[in-house]
Amino acid sequence: MSTTKTEEEFSALRMLSAGVVHEIRNPLAVIQSLVELLAQKTQDKNQQALAEAIVTEVKRLNRFLGEFLQYGRVPELKYETVDIGTLIQKALSFAITPEQNATQVIRTDIPEHLPQARLDPDAMHQVLVNAILNALQAMQGKGRLEIQVKRPKQHLTIKIQDSGPGIPPENLEKIFFPFFTTKRNGSGLGLAISQQIVKQHSGWMVFENNVNEKGVTLVINIPQEQAD
Ligand SMILES: Nc1ncnc2c1ncn2[C@@H]1O[C@H](COP(=O)(O)OP(=O)(O)OP(=O)(O)O)[C@@H](O)[C@H]1O
Ligand SMILES: [Mg+2]
Repeated sequence: MSTTKTEEEFSALRMLSAGVVHEIRNPLAVIQSLVELLAQKTQDKNQQALAEAIVTEVKRLNRFLGEFLQYGRVPELKYETVDIGTLIQKALSFAITPEQNATQVIRTDIPEHLPQARLDPDAMHQVLVNAILNALQAMQGKGRLEIQVKRPKQHLTIKIQDSGPGIPPENLEKIFFPFFTTKRNGSGLGLAISQQIVKQHSGWMVFENNVNEKGVTLVINIPQEQAD
């Protein structure tokens, strides 16, 4: 009974949040276009820079609201048979700009002939992009990102390893909590949403400290049916 009540409360809360987000987003869009208009009308470089700063913050708020809306939603998974190598390459090229690629040593270790996996490609893309962005942000422009994939019969394991500063022990429990962030511009929803998606796939994810070097490895495990 209590589960049903919680579910009801959650769905009421989601509807309320969706309404609030909607009401905030509309005036935000107006603010953005008016500020952009002001920037076009002035020749003053300082005023243009100020306008640009406002637009950046408005966009950040918009992104946060989008993620907030998404949190707590449990969309139906659309399982497909996918090529894991392609999925990872796609996430890498989405998360890494060409400039970053030039300054960071990004090594990926993806075996060539991986069997395919059954998962929701759009949802897993989101998980991978957040994990890669977290790793890059932790390394702050220099370091090594390594992605490994193992696919024994009943499991798909994706490891995302970075050479960043690692996660302080006192934060380890909190990083999956919604809204926990140590970043000035972070929403703290990346890992909370990712964990939800992985759980929907009946999987689990965990951070491990790297052995003999600094940094962490995010291990994502997704069960797979035996037949392949
Ligand atoms: N690879 C990592 N190395 C060090 N700390 C990490 C790493 N990945 C996550 N964290 C810590 O976990 C926190 C929560 O991560 P999460 O992805 O949920 O949110 P965020 O990255 O802060 O914000 P957003 O994902 O919205 O940009 C981060 O703020 C950071 O402190
Ligand atoms: Mg993140």
